[in-house]
Amino acid sequence: MKTEIHGTQQRRLSIEKSILKEIDAYSTSHQKTRHFCELIDSGQTHDYSWIVMTLIGPSLDIVRRLLNKQYSKSCVINMAVQILDAVEIMHEVGFIHRDLKPGNICTGNPPNDDHVLYVLDFGISRRIFKNNKSRELRNKRERVPFYGTRKFCNRACHMEQDQGRKDDMETYVYTILDLFHNEKGLPWSKDLTDQKKIIMKKKALFANPHKELDPMIPSSISRIINYLNGLKFQDPIDYRFIEIELKSSRSELKTSDPSDETMDWTGKLEKLLRESKKNKKAETPKGEETLMFERLTLLKKAKEMASSGQLSNEASCAKTLTSKDVDGSEGPPTGFNTTQGTNESRASNMKIEKPPKIEKKKSRSRN
Ligand SMILES: Nc1ncnc2c1ncn2[C@@H]1O[C@H](COP(=O)(O)OP(=O)(O)OP(=O)(O)O)[C@@H](O)[C@H]1O
Ligand SMILES: [Mg+2]
Repeated sequence: MKTEIHGTQQRRLSIEKSILKEIDAYSTSHQKTRHFCELIDSGQTHDYSWIVMTLIGPSLDIVRRLLNKQYSKSCVINMAVQILDAVEIMHEVGFIHRDLKPGNICTGNPPNDDHVLYVLDFGISRRIFKNNKSRELRNKRERVPFYGTRKFCNRACHMEQDQGRKDDMETYVYTILDLFHNEKGLPWSKDLTDQKKIIMKKKALFANPHKELDPMIPSSISRIINYLNGLKFQDPIDYRFIEIELKSSRSELKTSDPSDETMDWTGKLEKLLRESKKNKKAETPKGEETLMFERLTLLKKAKEMASSGQLSNEASCAKTLTSKDVDGSEGPPTGFNTTQGTNESRASNMKIEKPPKIEKKKSRSRN
C-alpha cells in the first residue's frame, strides 16, 4: 500500500494510479506485459489517499547488498534487457518515467517470479502525448523545475529543461552503469552535493563515452550512448538497436547463457532475505498501521504547530515531513507499507529527516 497525505505534497499518487491502470489496459488490449505491478484498489480518507498494488520482491539496491555488492556482468546485461523492455512499454503507453534507478526497480517474488524485474514509483512520471489516440507528442516546454534524483537524472533534468524519451534513456544508461559498477559507483556518486561537477562529468561521458567509460564496461554501452547522442527531444527510440547492442555484449563477456532470465539471485533470494533478516542486515520497518499512524500524527503535529504560529504555514509542514533516501534523493514522503517488510530501504525511506534548504522555485526535487 502506498499512501499520500492530503495537502502536504504534490499529487504523486494520482499519476501512479493512472499509469498502473493504463499499463494494465494496454496489457489486456495489446500485448501481455510483465514488469509492472497490478493496481488492486485505491481510495481516500479525509486525511490521505492510498493505492494498493501487488506486493513484489526487494529492490535492486537491496538485492545488491544481499549479494555483497556483486552483480555479475552477465546478470547486469539480463537486467538491462528487461528494464529496456519495461521502459519501452511505458513510452509506448504514453509516459516517461523520469526517475529510473535501482531503488525503483524490484525483483518479482521468489521462488517463481524473481527472475522478472518490475519498474515502479511513477510519482514524477509524465504523459508524453497530447492525446493518446493521435499519439501526437506534447510540445517541449521552455523551462521545467527539477524532477529527478541527482545521481541518476539526465543532463536535461539538471538544466531544468523538458525531458523526453531520449532523456529517460539517458537515465536508463546511468542506471545500468551503476549496476555494472557495484561498489565503485558512478564517477560522480562520491559527491552528490556539487551539481555543477555532476553535470560536467555526465557531459564528459556523453561527449566521449569510449574514453570516459571504465574499461570493464562492455563496448556496447558506448555505442548506445553515441546513438542516444544523435537523438532530438521528439525522436522515437530504436529500442531494438539498444537490445541488439546489449545482447551482443554477451559474446564480449563470453557468457554462455543466452536467456534474459538467469539472475545472480536465482534460486537463492528467499534464503538471502531470510539470512539478512536474521543478521539484521535488512531491517524490518515498523508495521503498516504504526507507519501510517506516525505519518498522520506528524502531520497533525505540524498542522498544530502551523496554527499556533510555531511553523509559518502548511508548506512548512510539508518541509518538516520531507524524506531522504539512499541516493540522496529527496521528495515528499509518499508512504509505502508492506506486510512482508523485508527491505532495508523501505525502512530508510520512511525515516523523517530534517530537509535541506529549499530553493526559490517549487519543484519535486530529489537531488
Ligand atoms: N509493490 C511493491 N512491492 C514491494 N515493494 C515495493 C513495492 N512498491 C514499492 N516497494 C518498495 O518500497 C520502496 C519505496 O517505494 P517507491 O519508490 O514507490 O516510493 P517513493 O516514496 O516514491 O520512493 P522514493 O521517493 O524514495 O523514490 C521501493 O524502493 C521498494 O523497495
Ligand atoms: Mg522510489
